[in-house]
Amino acid sequence: MRNYIKRSIAVCFLAITITACSSNNYLNSEQLHYLEKQATRTLQEIPKGAINIPRNVNNGADKWRYVDYEDWTSGFWPGVLWYLFEATNQEKWKIEADKFTRELTRLSVQKAVDHDLGFQIFNSFGNGYRLTHNEEYKKVILRTADSLATLFNPNTGTILSWPRSVPNLEWPQHNTIMDNMINLEMLFWASKNGGGRELYDMAVSHAQVTMKNAFRPDYSSYHVVVYDRNTGKKIKAVTHQGYSDESMWARGQAWAIYGFTMCYRESKRSEFLEFAQKVTDVYLERLPPDLIPYWDFNDPGIPNAPKDASAAAITASAMLELSTFVADKVKASLYRKKAEQILAVLSSDKYLSKDTNSSFLLHSTGHKPNGLEIDASITYADYYYIEALIRADRLQRSEPLK
Ligand code: GLY
Repeated sequence: MRNYIKRSIAVCFLAITITACSSNNYLNSEQLHYLEKQATRTLQEIPKGAINIPRNVNNGADKWRYVDYEDWTSGFWPGVLWYLFEATNQEKWKIEADKFTRELTRLSVQKAVDHDLGFQIFNSFGNGYRLTHNEEYKKVILRTADSLATLFNPNTGTILSWPRSVPNLEWPQHNTIMDNMINLEMLFWASKNGGGRELYDMAVSHAQVTMKNAFRPDYSSYHVVVYDRNTGKKIKAVTHQGYSDESMWARGQAWAIYGFTMCYRESKRSEFLEFAQKVTDVYLERLPPDLIPYWDFNDPGIPNAPKDASAAAITASAMLELSTFVADKVKASLYRKKAEQILAVLSSDKYLSKDTNSSFLLHSTGHKPNGLEIDASITYADYYYIEALIRADRLQRSEPLK
């Protein structure tokens, strides 16, 4: 009985939060003040001198841990700054965004060492170009897209995500991870902005092969597929960051939802739109009542397992876009409503970092099996959170998403 009462109170609280927040303008002055205040604190805290890019604030800490330009997350902080510029139109954010963006230029002239080039360069230079049309940024993106394309293996039809030995991946066979779906966006963009047609073909091929090999019959995703690098034959599907090979790792599924939605936007191929809905539906069906996933849907420790606010932010942003593509009005409005409800929960006291640290959000999980970034603040959660707020705001004003 006591549990029932507790659960009812929790559900009522959630309903109040969702109702209160979902009637709001997503970028009202209070929300903008919060985002700007946190980012300003972060800028003040960043040590000057060497390249210091905020990556995460570990649970129990109150300061960011910094990385350099080579880290896979290096594009998210400049991306957050570009979104702040977009949301506020304040020149000071553009200046900071440009500064951190330029720190990553070297990635465009180095040998590609993994698929993360898209996260790094497209979130920084890509957003920068979208908002400023600076031709220098464009050159960097085009060079990096060509560099990412060097990892494409025509035998498998996918990009080699990690061209290095990773436990359980039968090196030197070919691995392709779900996260890699996001980085196809830079290939699509480059092919439409002066790059070669082959970049478009690679992106479509990668998505089609992933669709075929990286999902179970219920459309939940595997994290990694290992292929024979010569014949292209699938060897096995395993996990690297999830609970087990057969579990649904929350962020992996979030990358799939975002990735196939983006592939539809860029290619207008209906197979991707149908698939985006299937991978979204299984995610929504299995979400806990508060709409924020545990880090892995199959962790037997649930409900005493860490949450992953980053997966929630990624899916909220993706579902807002998906809602604009789906012709079935009932389904489209369901995706939009769920996304808005997720944003409302993320914007509640439980998830906002406020005085705990200077990030936007608490409670993300990076790499649980390695004991890293568990119940932490992480820049990619902040990046997709502000992106989703901007998208929700546009939809509320009946403006197209950019
Ligand atoms: N490897 C990217 C991620 O942790 O989602």
